[in-house]
Amino acid sequence: MQSVKVTASTQYDILIERGILKRAGELIKEYTGARRALLITDRTVDGLYSKAALDSLKSAGIDCEKFVFEDGEEHKSLKTVGDILSFAAGLNFTRSDIFIALGGGIVGDVTGFAASAYLRGVRFVQIPTTLLAAVDSSVGGKTGVNLPEGKNLAGAFHQPSLVLCDPDCFNTLSDALFADGAAESIKYGIIADESLFEIFEFGDVKGNIENIVRRCVEIKSDIVSRDEFDLGERQKLNLGHTLGHAIERCSDFAVSHGHAVAIGTVRACLAAQKLGVCKEDISERVKKTLERNELPVSTDISVHELASVMQRDKKRSSAGINLILPTKIGECILYNTDPNELESIYSL
Ligand code: GLY
Repeated sequence: MQSVKVTASTQYDILIERGILKRAGELIKEYTGARRALLITDRTVDGLYSKAALDSLKSAGIDCEKFVFEDGEEHKSLKTVGDILSFAAGLNFTRSDIFIALGGGIVGDVTGFAASAYLRGVRFVQIPTTLLAAVDSSVGGKTGVNLPEGKNLAGAFHQPSLVLCDPDCFNTLSDALFADGAAESIKYGIIADESLFEIFEFGDVKGNIENIVRRCVEIKSDIVSRDEFDLGERQKLNLGHTLGHAIERCSDFAVSHGHAVAIGTVRACLAAQKLGVCKEDISERVKKTLERNELPVSTDISVHELASVMQRDKKRSSAGINLILPTKIGECILYNTDPNELESIYSL
């Protein structure tokens, strides 16, 4: 088993092992001491993994109820959170009980937000079933839902008490969903670890998946321990995301998050070279690596259209907008700029 400790406002462990789902009950009991749990999942994951999780919780003597919501970004909503809170209250869940998120990023974000609000905060465990959730959203305590006005506009920082990652769950992901997770993992390589990047560049990705997840969450955990509330360094985790979010929006979310981040990452490399922040030509290397991992590297959406969406990005502040730019593979910086400069910076 691989394990990583996160030290933020609370300390917790991330345990990574093939088949760990079948041991979820004993580990949750050992790490949290909980005797009652609410397992929260979506329709697809319910059909694939709820039974294994529930059997294991039951064998460990944890009394467990289940809440299932429908798949899709439209259910990452205040309505779903309200339904979970009413369900838990109707069953008299108490402060010593826990919520468990079993699923991808949407399930984890919704469950974490519900856990932050129920009785002013109960503990929760993340069991990510996608590579994307395993390397990113299940770690670091960002939780939340979408509002009609935009994505992730309501939420809370609420750290999980434990994260259990079973890479065998990735076997049921489509190639496109696996590639979404690869894009986020490659991002960690570019911001902090060239040898991680090289696994995607010429190594055996699936054969090294436990090491990849461990290294990604180590990098994230280091950064979160220094900047839990996203005031500075944590923004580095958003390499490729400002332009990526604009691509998602301009395509009406037809381009998935990871695919959009891949294109955004290439554009960040090109911008870094153009601005002289990065002295080497890394963009060809990054492009080839993304393509090897079945990810797109360009878009037909015009820079003019993307720049106008980026100018409205929620991450901008009165001090401008921070772009994340690589200085080489394995290192990046925050580069503050005026939002009006974005079109020229990203023009090729
Ligand atoms: N997904 C970026 C972060 O957790 O800060």
